[in-house]
Amino acid sequence: MLGRFSPQRYSQCFKTFVKTFEQARFKSNESIRRFISENTETGGQLSLTPEVKLRLLTSNCRFWRERPELWPFDDPYWAIYWPGGQALSRYLLDNPDECQGKTVLDVGSGCGASAIAAKLCGAAHVIANDIDEVAAIATQMNSELNSLEPPVCVSENMIASQIQGVDLILLGDMFYDEALATSLHTWLDNCVRTHGTRVLIGDPGRAQFQSHDIRGLLRPLVQYELPESVKEENYGLTCSRVWLYHPQFFK
Ligand SMILES: C[S@@+](CC[C@H](N)C(=O)[O-])C[C@H]1O[C@@H](n2cnc3c(N)ncnc32)[C@H](O)[C@@H]1O
Repeated sequence: MLGRFSPQRYSQCFKTFVKTFEQARFKSNESIRRFISENTETGGQLSLTPEVKLRLLTSNCRFWRERPELWPFDDPYWAIYWPGGQALSRYLLDNPDECQGKTVLDVGSGCGASAIAAKLCGAAHVIANDIDEVAAIATQMNSELNSLEPPVCVSENMIASQIQGVDLILLGDMFYDEALATSLHTWLDNCVRTHGTRVLIGDPGRAQFQSHDIRGLLRPLVQYELPESVKEENYGLTCSRVWLYHPQFFK
């Protein structure tokens, strides 16, 4: 039977087998925490928010060069501090009134930086929502790194669900995919219309964001030039903006 496989097919099956085997090793929270601390480096100092410490995948980490099939999880979005999230977190830290005493929901929270910024600004209640369960563990570890109680972490997809009691929704670098952008647009419209929720979006000028209909409903609040190292890691991006969702029916 093996003879009927092409070398490419064989190599693909082998990679899938290795990946499945690697995944099976990380069932408990404890083993995932250990993996994160062994395979990330405490960074963030070269970001727009040097005061927030984060465990990130850097060039000093094994998996910067390692065979990708040995990575035991989905793509590690939570191990990167995205330029949209950096601008959003910077804006919150500079404008603590946005969060003070509020209930804040960070959707697509990744490493948890914006949720952590909201906590540092005195939010009454913070929810970090990311469909990647490993992101929840990374967020807990990053909160501890900043001597904070972790936010409530939710891994279910909340987009399209009814949310109540949330004053502020944060979206850092969530407009990287056309279909996701469209579902966010519909959902945010509903949140704002039904509950009057305030919505802040951080984006570094991604094509899917710039060309989307939602852009016509947003008002720019602030623009930051990205630090040199962030520009190098995100080829072609030079600045990142924070936008306020401000639909026509508010005018
Ligand atoms: C580009 S990263 C941004 C992470 C973080 N906000 C930042 O700026 O550093 C996008 C994140 O959105 C998460 N995500 C994608 N679709 C989602 C959904 N429907 N609900 C919640 N999170 C989602 C991904 O798992 C990923 O962690």
